[in-house]
Formats: sequence, C-alpha cells, structure tokens
Amino acid sequence: MHRRTVIAGLAVTPFTAAVAQPALAGPLAVSASSRKGATLVIGHRGASGYRPEHTLAAYDLAARMGADFIEPDVVITKDGVLVCRHEPEIGGTTDVAERAEFADRKKTKKLDGVDVTGWWAEDFTLKELKTLYAAERLPAVRQENTLYNKRLRVPTLDEVFQLRAELSRRLGRRIGIYPETKHPTYFKELGLPLEKRLLNLVRKHGLNHPDAPIFVQSFETTNLQQLRRLGLKAPAVQLLSAAGAPYDLVAAGDPRTYADLITPKGLGVIAKYAQGIGPDKNLVIGRTAAGALGKPTELVDNAHGSGLLVHPYTFRAENSFLPSDYRVGAGEADYGRAIDEQIAYLATGIDGLFTDQPDIGVFARSERAAA
Ligand code: G3P
Ligand code: CA
Repeated sequence: MHRRTVIAGLAVTPFTAAVAQPALAGPLAVSASSRKGATLVIGHRGASGYRPEHTLAAYDLAARMGADFIEPDVVITKDGVLVCRHEPEIGGTTDVAERAEFADRKKTKKLDGVDVTGWWAEDFTLKELKTLYAAERLPAVRQENTLYNKRLRVPTLDEVFQLRAELSRRLGRRIGIYPETKHPTYFKELGLPLEKRLLNLVRKHGLNHPDAPIFVQSFETTNLQQLRRLGLKAPAVQLLSAAGAPYDLVAAGDPRTYADLITPKGLGVIAKYAQGIGPDKNLVIGRTAAGALGKPTELVDNAHGSGLLVHPYTFRAENSFLPSDYRVGAGEADYGRAIDEQIAYLATGIDGLFTDQPDIGVFARSERAAA
C-alpha cells in the first residue's frame, strides 16, 4: 500500500488552487443558482482516513487538504464538558482499556436500547479523559494511522471551535464546523443534556447566525427542534439512516421511521427546523443485489423541492467501503475507484459530501467541475 504518499509533506493541497472554494455565505435557501459550484467537502471526523479520528491533528489535516468543513461528533464528560468522540463508549478509540487505574470503570450500559460494554465518556471527568490517548478505530484497514496511537489527545469541542477559527486565519479561507450531537436522548436521560452546552459554544464562538459556517446535525429529531426553541439560529441538518428510526421517536412511541422522513411529506416536516439532510449515501444511490452501484433515487430532487441541502455520508476510499464494481483488487484496505464513485454521486446534484479522505473529495469535485 503506497497510496498515502499523496499526503506526505502536505502544506496546502495543490488541488485547491485551481478551483474556486465554495462560498457559504447568505441564507441557506436552496436554489439552482445557490447550489451551483458549491458542493462542500466535509472532513468526516477530520481527515480520519489519515489520522485517528476526532483528534486536532485529524481536523487540522482535513482543512489543509482543502475540506470546507471539519466534523466533530459530540459526547459529554461526567463534569459536563462537551468532547469529541464518535460515541459515548471510548474503549475503541482511546487507550483506556490499557489503563489499570480505570479498569473498574468498565460497564455494560443500554445505549439506545442495545447493551454495550466498555468505558464511557460520561464516567470520566475532563481531567481524567485528558490523560487518555486517542487510538485508531480501524487498525486492520488503516494500519498507517496506528503510527499516531499514544501521541494525540481527546479534544474538547471548545478546542475544535478554536481550531476552526485558527485554521481559517492560517489558510486564508473560511473553514466551517459541522458538530453532531451524539445520542441526545441517552444523555438527556443521564441528566447531561447536550443542547444548551452546544448552543453556548456556538454563541461563544460567534456562529449563531443563519449564514455562519456551521451546520448542527443529529440523527435524532427532537433535539434539533429543541435547539431551535432554545435560540439556535445557525443552520441545522437532519441525519438520515438507511434503516431503523430516530431513537427519540422510538423512545416516545412515535412510529415514524427514517423511511417516513425521506418521503416528500417527511422532508417537508424536516424543512420546518433544518436547512439540510445528511442521508446515508445508499439513500441517494442504492446498491444492486450484487452490491454494485445502482441508480439514483429521487431523494436529491425531493429534498431540493423542499428547500433542503443534501450532504450524504460517508465516502471512503478503501475497497471495503466501496460498491463491488468500484473495488480494485482483493485487499479490503486497498484503495478502489473512490474518485469515480464520488463523481457518480456529484452528478446527482448533491450539495456536499462527508469523506474520510478530504483530498480525494476535493479532487473529485475539481474533476467533476472541469468536465
Ligand atoms: O454525521 C454524518 C456521519 O458522520 C454520520 O455517521 O456515524 O459517522 O457519525 P457517523
Ligand atoms: Ca458524524
């Protein structure tokens, strides 16, 4: 695997110079003209294809590779500080399992109705959490990322907001932030709700206005509506899974599923509180029975018809994440035709994409724009 030499010594991606960076100014009303040329590249968990996810190094690299946005997932500590991890359970992305002093913190908890065993962000104070190191989640697929294990810490969300501002100054362009509230019903039931704390940070960093470079996202629905009631003026995005139902609806006995939310009627409801949707990419272009890339669905057109932006997730270059007809060779960790896959999605009219390899997203966007 020699592919990652592409980022060696990278200061600023060479691909960005030739293509105007997309503007994210003005109201987010979706129109054909406002969408033109504005496809966003969102550094998913940072440049998580090249660095352990949700570390300052991963976010920093994403921006330097040309990402328009960096994407922190947000959980909370015992003492109420928002920190960046993909889920409350931190055993898979830190060295906590090797730390004898925390051995008795290992617990089985019910997370959105499912038993999960491990170590939990909400059982650690920030001071304790800051003694841990980040670790690569997918060492079998991203062995090179393990180079950084035991070298990077878990950032607070406040630190990532600060980094966003610093990167914008340093790179001379506006870098956005795309925070996702993780498991809001779960944290609310623990007495550690995320919403006011998040809104306080959005305000503290001067981003609580409709044209700010921020999208607040969630797989749940109620908390996005609550954030609106609390005073969130910045754009919001409703995430949409390819299966199941938002856990807040499940917990409330509401029978609606994600399949209901992507109907024109469901999209109309979302448009009352959000400016966009973040669907699983298979909802934009499905797969055939054989696992190949299928035909585009009507979701992009329907969402645009409701005035919603469309930012599908997650584009990854390794074969294991690609449609069968975009894989190259047999190695699960080897890269396939990721640029071709992204260009196929860009042709559907999406407004942005989440990717673990922002340099590839920027390249695909450039090639599509030049075609
Ligand atoms: O937030 C978009 C995408 O990141 C959703 O998936 O599980 O990676 O947070 P997840
Ligand atoms: Ca996310």
